[in-house]
Amino acid sequence: DQLKSENVTWHAANILKGDRQKVYGHKSGVLWLTGLSGSGKSTIAVEVEKRLFERNLKTYHLDGDNLRFGLNKDLGFSAEDRRENIRRVGELAKLFADAGILTITSFISPYQSDRNLARDLLEDDFIEIYLKCSLDVCEQRDPKGLYKKVRNGEIKGFTGIDAPYEVPGEPELIIETDRLTVEESVEKIMDYMEKRCLF
Ligand code: PPS
Repeated sequence: DQLKSENVTWHAANILKGDRQKVYGHKSGVLWLTGLSGSGKSTIAVEVEKRLFERNLKTYHLDGDNLRFGLNKDLGFSAEDRRENIRRVGELAKLFADAGILTITSFISPYQSDRNLARDLLEDDFIEIYLKCSLDVCEQRDPKGLYKKVRNGEIKGFTGIDAPYEVPGEPELIIETDRLTVEESVEKIMDYMEKRCLF
């Protein structure tokens, strides 16, 4: 995309990501959770954040629902708005990664092309984690009663029902949340982070 603002100059940072990582004693990185509504994104993100925090690591969780109360309050659920949502989150996550923080994002992020943009932007920091869970199980869980509303015709364009979810082609990690407990899912993510030497 073209820059809309003219006469802007990029100022190089004085303190680099590597400097921060040295002081903090761990790498940065973005655990990008993607999956259907009800697949367990927020639940697992909260638990992973807790585990990292308990180890005194710098961590932060960016959540889809929550960001839609503030930064993304002007966006709805059209394909275009979802793209802009994910673009902003990608940029935000990049700032968090530059700040040396282990960031966890929990957004449906249903389109492969939008996730790829985030991957291109975040480069090696991007870790795509697909929370694989059948639509049936998501609908049974229905933690916010949204699937019920969809079936009653109160919500249109809902992911997995009448809006698409594009399954990740080559995620770094697949977690089958309809076969594993939350604890087991969290453990897998922690193991992966350790294997990648993120801490
Ligand atoms: S997206 O697709 O990545 O832009 O969505 P995200 O920002 O993660 O927001 C998803 C949450 O919004 C609620 N919600 C909907 N989801 C999907 N489709 C429609 N139409 C919709 N309307 C509201 C819902 O609570 C989603 O949260 P999760 O945690 O996924 O259930």
